[in-house]
Amino acid sequence: MFHKLQQKWKVNGVNLLLILITFAIGGSLCGILGRKILGWINVDKGAAWIILYIIIMTLIWPTCVLFVSIFTGQLGFFKKYISKILKRFSGSAAPRQVTAPADSAFRLAIFASGAGSNAAQIIQHFKNNPEVRIEMVVCNKPGAGVLEVASEAGIDKILIERDRFFKGDGYVPLLKQHRITHIILAGFLWKVPSTILQQWPNAILNIHPALLPKYGGKGMYGAHVHEAVIANGEKESGITIHCVDEIYDNGDIILQVRCNVEETDTPNSLATKIHRLEHEHYPAAIEQFLKAKKALNKNVVSQS
Ligand code: GRF
Repeated sequence: MFHKLQQKWKVNGVNLLLILITFAIGGSLCGILGRKILGWINVDKGAAWIILYIIIMTLIWPTCVLFVSIFTGQLGFFKKYISKILKRFSGSAAPRQVTAPADSAFRLAIFASGAGSNAAQIIQHFKNNPEVRIEMVVCNKPGAGVLEVASEAGIDKILIERDRFFKGDGYVPLLKQHRITHIILAGFLWKVPSTILQQWPNAILNIHPALLPKYGGKGMYGAHVHEAVIANGEKESGITIHCVDEIYDNGDIILQVRCNVEETDTPNSLATKIHRLEHEHYPAAIEQFLKAKKALNKNVVSQS
């Protein structure tokens, strides 16, 4: 449970502890103040007292936790947390796309199983682009952070199930129904089955946290990759953005970006560097890929 919260809020263990302490102290402070205020108002205990108590608690709770968070060093987290709650209540949660998509827009499905930091960057990147619509997020892991990312952005999400994905229709009818033109893997740990590959040839992209063909293949994901890179004494690592085919981490490479691996690097510090590179380059590489495809299609049409 704590691990899930860490993933959801994107914080380390110490910060999570401080956040929970803030919730506890802020909540108690709110309870004490709420009772005091009711005492001053002098309302008889009964239904009216309960309703007033709830209203007062709701109003002063944000102030109490914000106040306590100053002392626990978590003010930044709580400012964001409370503004998210307010947005949800006021119904002004992020619109799925600021600009209406053009009829010819590319329609992307993001497949992800993890925290969803790449998915969040991609969604943000295309928010104002009428040519590219992030249509849905497809996830195979209940409770994965990426589901929250999709909700916050107002994007449809579906939780897929193993048997249907690998042995059934592979969710192809559903993806077709959403008129998906391209699939973007962003930390999706299942192999894409041929049912999907056949329907989206040269239209599925993946990002790998190393310089392929090194450190790719089955079982090479997340920390395993960075541990292997460090264990082998590599002087550099990086990211690879590539097309997806039937073999793990094998399709045509679209972009590689390198970074140094210092002697002091740990799998964690390397993961942080790699994530930074991913966030900086994946959305732009997707855009370039789609632009090139559009140009190619135009060429084919004008020559025929
Ligand atoms: C990234 O490191 C990506 O390279 C790999 O999975 C990770 C996903 O991270 N394929 P996030 O869920 O986007 O934060």
